[in-house]
Amino acid sequence: MTFSLAGVTRRYSVPGDRPRPWRRGVTRTALDGLDLEVPTGRDLAIVGASGSGKSTLLRVLLALEAPDAGTVRFRGDLVTPRAPGALRHAVGVVAQDPASSLDPRLPVGASIREPLECLRVDGDHGARVAQLLDAVGLDPAVAARRPAAFSGGERQRIALARALAAGPEVLVADEPFSAVDPTTRARLVALVDDLTRAGGTQLLLVSHDLGIAQRLCADVAVLDASRVVETGPVATVFARPSADATRALLGAVLPVEWG
Ligand SMILES: Nc1ncnc2c1ncn2[C@@H]1O[C@H](COP(=O)(O)OP(=O)(O)OP(=O)(O)O)[C@@H](O)[C@H]1O
Ligand SMILES: [Mg+2]
Repeated sequence: MTFSLAGVTRRYSVPGDRPRPWRRGVTRTALDGLDLEVPTGRDLAIVGASGSGKSTLLRVLLALEAPDAGTVRFRGDLVTPRAPGALRHAVGVVAQDPASSLDPRLPVGASIREPLECLRVDGDHGARVAQLLDAVGLDPAVAARRPAAFSGGERQRIALARALAAGPEVLVADEPFSAVDPTTRARLVALVDDLTRAGGTQLLLVSHDLGIAQRLCADVAVLDASRVVETGPVATVFARPSADATRALLGAVLPVEWG
């Protein structure tokens, strides 16, 4: 198993609706006793309505946040934010907000190069950075610029280049294609498809685009209201959904022709 989550609960304290300093905030449950197994070598799409807990699930699974209850295992070993073990080195991450994974003070080339240096990857790091920028459709000359000088979609591409830099065994990506134009999206999907098919990288993908989920992943897990409500091979689940939440997601797809 690449990841095993058992009984994972994550709550957040948020301020109440009105400023009432004598009252403690309200608690919001983002994950509620969630169980999920991600078998080795099976690419998994995680889908679900906005607010269902997908990004929280990824943060807990990546041991960036500790759950309030339950356990997270990576390849059988318990992982926590203090003791992530092999997780940090094996996994490349694209966060939903690409700005959060790039240091605003560093030229983007340095951000992409960082995993190469941390993991002491052999070879010419400058050439590798140029190759990665080219692979995501950016001019290698932009490596000297800082993140503020890029659009949201460009930052998303830089975050993907950084996540792929050291050739991760597992790529965990939260909506990595959401901010780019359709042509660039097709290019990035093809790039990730090549890596997962030929390169042996396992993919965990959060996507609102069910077509992309189906193209890139063998399996799907559907989240609804902080729990996994359905899992299985993506073609089976989408053809014969058993959960209401899955039917709602499939039914909400816009028709191609608007009439
Ligand atoms: N840091 C936080 N502080 C307080 N509440 C949070 C925090 N992170 C998430 N939540 C709450 O947890 C719930 C799940 O949020 P999450 O971001 O995991 O949803 P999501 O499925 O990724 O949604 P989207 O598709 O819009 O990205 C939401 O109700 C959200 O408001
Ligand atoms: Mg999210």
